[in-house]
Amino acid sequence: MSELTLTEMAVAVLSTRDGRAKTALSRAHAATWFAARAEGRALPLGNAVPPLRPARPEQPTLLDPRDVPRRRPGSVQGRIALLHAVAHIELNAVDLHWDIIARFADTPMPLGFYDDWVKSADEESKHFNMICDCLEAMGSHYGALPAHAGMWRAAEDTAQDFLGRLAVVPMVLEARGLDVTPGMIEVFERAGETAAVAAMQVIYAEEVHHVAYGSKWFHFLCGRHDIDPKTAFHDLVRRYFHGALKPPFNEEKRAEAGIPPDFYWPLTESSSIKG
Ligand SMILES: [Fe+2]
Ligand SMILES: [Fe+2]
Repeated sequence: MSELTLTEMAVAVLSTRDGRAKTALSRAHAATWFAARAEGRALPLGNAVPPLRPARPEQPTLLDPRDVPRRRPGSVQGRIALLHAVAHIELNAVDLHWDIIARFADTPMPLGFYDDWVKSADEESKHFNMICDCLEAMGSHYGALPAHAGMWRAAEDTAQDFLGRLAVVPMVLEARGLDVTPGMIEVFERAGETAAVAAMQVIYAEEVHHVAYGSKWFHFLCGRHDIDPKTAFHDLVRRYFHGALKPPFNEEKRAEAGIPPDFYWPLTESSSIKG
């Protein structure tokens, strides 16, 4: 069988509808990529074009965020809803990571860029599977509840802007995950849901690297074009991200991921009112 190019692998994952099938293919392609890298070579990038929107399963029904019912995390149903929302985010993340690989393949990048995003895509696939396992152990499954529509908006808004994609997806959206995950871990700890706690802890540890890859390659591209990263970050987030950033921030994990406070504090509500 002839070898797929990396962009063909990305398009194959993006075009797979079912969540478990998508993540299985994602993990298999990541293994193929890293098997070649272990032999000291790299698969060709190719130039397969990703779809504007990834294929998604028929369920869950996607609703406007305002219409997604809120449930209190104090109940089992509430914790199932929370895990369901996390599964939805993780599935979206699988697609986002493959999309950035294929979408901007015409910009020459060091091989390390592809290593980082293929590794992250593999981890996002594992995250989705772990959370689905938890949901299934609790008698539910991904697709059983409605989920947020519009998760792909950031990808569409930045489809033509590589720096904008790095600013908004890993450095804003995934960094936000670092802020909120400790609180979610506490919810499952209080409920004695040890499997969910373990899954969320894996996610929390690995997401720091995804944010760090975002920051690393954002700074790399700014350096290539001799532009100031902080000013560029502020401009791009104001252009592509709808709304202000919300404190409290996880300053420790953000620092670990290479995002200093003067990147995010000026983008909070009180700062944007002052202009
Ligand atoms: Fe994740
Ligand atoms: Fe991630």
